[in-house]
Amino acid sequence: MLRIHVNTSSEYNVLLERGLLSTIDRYIDHDARKLCIVSDETVASLYGGKEHALYQALEKAGFQVFTYTFPAGEASKNIQTVTDLLQFLTGMQFTRKDRLIALGGGVTGDITGFTASIYMRGIGYYQIPTTLLAAVDSSIGGKTGVNLEAGKNLAGTFWQPKGVFFDPEVLQTLDQTQLLNGMAEIIKMGFICDKSLLYDAVHGGRNQHGPVIFQDADALMRLVAKAIQDKLSIVEQDERESGARALLNYGHTLGHAIEKCSGYQVPHGFAVATGMYYTARACDKVEWTNRPCADITEQTLRFFGYPLDCPYAAWQLAEAATNDKKSDGVNITLSVPEDLGKCVLRPLPAEQLVLFFECGLEMNNDDH
Ligand SMILES: NC(=O)c1ccc[n+]([C@@H]2O[C@H](COP(=O)([O-])OP(=O)(O)OC[C@H]3O[C@@H](n4cnc5c(N)ncnc54)[C@H](O)[C@@H]3O)[C@@H](O)[C@H]2O)c1
Ligand SMILES: [Zn+2]
Repeated sequence: MLRIHVNTSSEYNVLLERGLLSTIDRYIDHDARKLCIVSDETVASLYGGKEHALYQALEKAGFQVFTYTFPAGEASKNIQTVTDLLQFLTGMQFTRKDRLIALGGGVTGDITGFTASIYMRGIGYYQIPTTLLAAVDSSIGGKTGVNLEAGKNLAGTFWQPKGVFFDPEVLQTLDQTQLLNGMAEIIKMGFICDKSLLYDAVHGGRNQHGPVIFQDADALMRLVAKAIQDKLSIVEQDERESGARALLNYGHTLGHAIEKCSGYQVPHGFAVATGMYYTARACDKVEWTNRPCADITEQTLRFFGYPLDCPYAAWQLAEAATNDKKSDGVNITLSVPEDLGKCVLRPLPAEQLVLFFECGLEMNNDDH
């Protein structure tokens, strides 16, 4: 078993092990009497039902186990789902000693964490991520939230879980797009602060021809552990995002703009990969990098099969990005590479963002 100790405002462990779902009762707080497994319908039918190992292990250990499910997808990440879950918990007479279990991807983790943070002014919850993205990113760091009509993640809290449990076997039912969504966040951690992770991601599988790491559960689990440690090293310095945590946005300013311009047709991880690539190009051009980073960024991302297409004009992207909540209207704080495996924060006046994007994209046009 891999165990990572988390040292934030509350302390807990991230545990990673194959088959962990069937032994999970050992790690749940036995002061709790009732547990509610929260998951979307897809994940519930794969891992969350009475016939599955998780439910059975918890019931056998003497917990009273409840399940709450909602339709899969980002559209469920709203206040109504939170209200319904709160009502379910009051109906089942959950007390502050009882616990929620988020079994699923980032949508489930965000809804469950947010609900846990406000139910009776806060009850404990556990994260059991079932997507690669949730394992390395959304289940780590204690950010919770739901979307409002005005935008994504606009209502939220910081509420650390009591534990995060990752069983890599759940990844077997994910498709390639979902795996690549998570891998983009792993590679991102490498570019931000961990060159060795990039090496492991590319060479960590059985050979160097294609991303075989997806077929090697143990190598993938070690890579996930590394990405989690890297994310935590930043979160532990700045739990509430007043500084260093913004480094985690590498590729996201441009990535969110690409997602938005595509009408959310481009999956998040693919948009972030493209965002990292063009950001690296722009940084090389304006000489913010100590040595060129764009080529190695491109090679690494293409190795995993990200297309890195950006058919939008710089002005369209800048317009989409300046509406983003990461901008204060005057300056945008960009997470940018200074070297391979090292990002830094740089404020940029909002009106210069279009020029910055042009630098990345212009080189693109020169190539053709
Ligand atoms: N809180 C944070 O710090 C943070 C960080 C990054 C992203 N997020 C949020 O995470 C969300 C995206 O997460 P996601 O990509 O995991 O989305 P998701 O939770 O919607 O999961 C993606 C899809 O995969 C399915 N699925 C989940 N696990 C599966 C499995 N093991 N096998 C088969 N199908 C499975 C789900 O049913 C869903 O349809 C966004 O809402 C984003 O805002 C939050
Ligand atoms: Zn992301």
